[in-house]
Amino acid sequence: MRVLLTGAAGFIGTAVRRTLETDGHDVVPVDALLPQAHRTPPDVEGVHRLDVRDAGEWGDLLDGVDVVCHQAALVGAGVTVADLPEYAAHNDLGTAALLAAMSAHDVGNLVLASSMVVYGEGRYACPEHATVAPVPRSVAALDAGDFDNHCPACDRVLAWELVEESARLDPRSSYAASKVAQEHYASAWARQAGASAVALRYHNVYGPGMPRDTPYSGVAAIFRSSLARGEAPRVFEDGGQMRDFVHVDDVARANLAAVRAVGAREVGELSAYNVCSGSPVSILDVARILARQAGGAEPVVTGQYRSGDVRHVVASPALSARELGFAAQISPYEGLAGFASAPLRD
Ligand code: UD1
Repeated sequence: MRVLLTGAAGFIGTAVRRTLETDGHDVVPVDALLPQAHRTPPDVEGVHRLDVRDAGEWGDLLDGVDVVCHQAALVGAGVTVADLPEYAAHNDLGTAALLAAMSAHDVGNLVLASSMVVYGEGRYACPEHATVAPVPRSVAALDAGDFDNHCPACDRVLAWELVEESARLDPRSSYAASKVAQEHYASAWARQAGASAVALRYHNVYGPGMPRDTPYSGVAAIFRSSLARGEAPRVFEDGGQMRDFVHVDDVARANLAAVRAVGAREVGELSAYNVCSGSPVSILDVARILARQAGGAEPVVTGQYRSGDVRHVVASPALSARELGFAAQISPYEGLAGFASAPLRD
């Protein structure tokens, strides 16, 4: 198949490109090479240097393309509110422009890189009131060191459960809002254009080539960068936050499965899938695994918190296994141990 891949020079895009090409697909790599994403120029062999916001002016690049695999996005926590227009421009407007250009060139299949941030908080159960949706944690509770979510009815501490794709969308950051918007634009496009879309909701992706310490990077790269500087990883809250860490090679395999599957999907619909390992791990355990493997200082639990953070978000891999045939091959314990000495990119 001919696959146009956006964000092809990025950390995830590079792995997706390699996996698609190894499987025999004809990949058209595109990347805007934004300075926010690349402090030093990455390997850009054959990459078309183009911005998705200008997809309407890409000429014949989309002709003959079977599937667009859209990885290009500004990622991570918005550092200041000044970032808001950047998320709206690169993620919202970029996706809308790309979808309109696809329609103009009769490209009817989209694989979209989405994120678990669309859920906001994960799924929780109260021992008495079953599944409940917690309200955002209050500043007063967080300042007092109470990091858990409590049942709105009886105030008991809530236990985490696996989030399914049917969960309510509740974005808590500018980045999360832009990922929800991307899914909604893709869904509207599928309906209006009689097209098919698959959204892959990535959990905490890590692996070789992850960008070195930036405020836009996930916690695995932040811990790894601290250890490389000879510093202890600094763990926020009490370290009990649960996440699902999924290796970039598994994310690439999920994209391959979606690229193969999207053409046979019902037209007019977007289907969303969790892309996760299925093995939740606490943030303190992530820090410990990386520190021990790197022979570095033991993590420091700081008790600090970030206002936009959710407590736990871990997911069920069942639907992607059933409908895409995707199952992660790398457990977080094995993968994170390898990541402790993997190269990072600037
Ligand atoms: C992250 C990314 C998101 C990405 C998602 C899935 C953010 C806010 N979110 O979500 O872009 O789509 O993974 O791949 O960047 N922490 C520390 N010490 C630190 C930094 C963070 O303990 O130095 C803690 C945080 O308080 C949080 C956890 O680690 O509890 C995870 O942080 P992070 O990876 O930044 O964000 P996620 O919300 O998991």
